[in-house]
Amino acid sequence: MSDRQYQWVYRKIKETTGIDLSAYKSQQAHRRLDFYLRRSGAKSWAEYFRRVEQNPQELQALRNYLTINVSCFFRDPHKFRQLQERILPRLVQSNGRLDMWSAGCSYGAEAYTLAIIADMMGIRYYRVWATDIDQGALARARAGGPYTREDVKNIAPPLVTKYFDRREDGLYVKPMLRRHVAFEEFNLLEDEARSQFDLVVCRNVIIYFSDEAKRKVLITLTRALRPGGVLFLGGTEVIPSALARALGLRPLEISFYGKVAHVMESAA
Ligand SMILES: C[S@@+](CC[C@H](N)C(=O)[O-])C[C@H]1O[C@@H](n2cnc3c(N)ncnc32)[C@H](O)[C@@H]1O
Repeated sequence: MSDRQYQWVYRKIKETTGIDLSAYKSQQAHRRLDFYLRRSGAKSWAEYFRRVEQNPQELQALRNYLTINVSCFFRDPHKFRQLQERILPRLVQSNGRLDMWSAGCSYGAEAYTLAIIADMMGIRYYRVWATDIDQGALARARAGGPYTREDVKNIAPPLVTKYFDRREDGLYVKPMLRRHVAFEEFNLLEDEARSQFDLVVCRNVIIYFSDEAKRKVLITLTRALRPGGVLFLGGTEVIPSALARALGLRPLEISFYGKVAHVMESAA
């Protein structure tokens, strides 16, 4: 397809699903669109959108596909150990509270991982605000499951017993953790976040974004932190040092950045 045709598809997708593909890396977005069209059996995007008019549910499937919501509990276990042992002890406030945001939480495994860690650390007053653009993923997260054995492969069996209920269709997170976690739809490229979080976790999300969109999202994430708070990114998501400085972020350990000051408006 030509660039103009992709632009037309982008516009239609934005109108129908709210997803702005121009914020994503273009080659990757084009590849995924081509694959999706082939898999749908439609001969062209025009035909595909005609079909959608008769079957609006198909739009949810397209939305789910485009948002790539692969996840699991304790994804990169050593990073979460580092979070638990070296980062969080310094972040718990003197009044014993811990306020966290899991941004791009997919179907909830990351948000509940934070709750498990806080519980294991004996933190009594913790909250996790967990957000994503994908309503289907959020519905599963809100229900606390079902999660599969693969989802919990990085959790020791006694802890699976402690934190999950087994039901016929899979594992469900126990209410003792669920009451600390609130899920909400939130578009990182458009919506305004709450602020004063101690920890903001945004892992394996900005990797799919163009440089401009990445910068926009990083500004939102940094604004949401209190001074002294920490941003936790995915393993391959590195902020170039000039941008980190402009945002008021200081590299702590790989994947972790500390907020040293408020975001400078010149970075926005
Ligand atoms: C690969 S998953 C990462 C899940 C989890 N953070 C992890 O590392 O396991 C990426 C998530 O980002 C979400 N996402 C993509 N674009 C987004 C946007 N503009 N706003 C909010 N979430 C978005 C997707 O819906 C998806 O659930």
